[in-house]
Amino acid sequence: MEVIISKTYEEMSRAAALDVAEVLNATPDAVIGMATGSTPLGLYQELVRMHKKEGLDFSQVTTFNLDEYVGLPVTHSQSYHYFMHENFFKHVNIPPQNIHIPSGTTSNYRAFCDWYEQRIKECGGIDVQILGIGSDGHIAFNEPASSLSSRTRLKTLAKSTIDDNARFFKSRDEVPIYAITMGVGTILEARKILLLANGRKKAEAVAAAVEGPVTSMITASALQMHADSAVYVDDDAASKLQMREYYDWVQQKKPDAPKL
Ligand code: F6R
Repeated sequence: MEVIISKTYEEMSRAAALDVAEVLNATPDAVIGMATGSTPLGLYQELVRMHKKEGLDFSQVTTFNLDEYVGLPVTHSQSYHYFMHENFFKHVNIPPQNIHIPSGTTSNYRAFCDWYEQRIKECGGIDVQILGIGSDGHIAFNEPASSLSSRTRLKTLAKSTIDDNARFFKSRDEVPIYAITMGVGTILEARKILLLANGRKKAEAVAAAVEGPVTSMITASALQMHADSAVYVDDDAASKLQMREYYDWVQQKKPDAPKL
């Protein structure tokens, strides 16, 4: 795993956005896996800026979001449909028919999840997957003890995740208990994975994911099994990493490294 540590959230977001833009420049019809939550907001703002000011083109892009709350209509201000529209999709030129977000209101969750997996395959698989990390080490809504080969499915949220996400709702009671989420196995099939984390609250989870054992108790640790994953963190989220000096050294020496 490549660990890229930035001084600030803004710097981290910009570095990750450049990585996504590089994929898009090489593969204009790339399939991008999208995450929601507060972490990728800066990255999305930067991609929107690149689209508006530098002509970064999304006209051939296809997207698949990681997850959605069960029971929230797409118009609910905390649904991930709403989040993506407000923070990203309405500002770029992705054709609406290329956008996929799990349904939180389907009448048949199992059939929907099977279709979602199938649709990712039909689109050629995910080229670059953007991820945040929960304070319990989850990726998407793959809570501790999720199978590391899990697929898209309905999942019961951990109480700690409900607590963490209560900040977005009027009260804790309003936070949905269930979600549809891509599985760890689904995520690991992406060709490239970028995990972002900022803030002191994520430091333990980041250290466990990057330097701890691969375990279903920290589903982000499964990224250690992926051949092309990068972890973008700010100083606070990096504060518990034991190998920090090495990660910084690698980045410092990168410009002079033999070209692959
Ligand atoms: C959201 C998602 C979650 C979040 C994680 C961190 O689509 O998949 O795994 O990335 O809960 O959330 P924030 O960024 O709000 O701290």
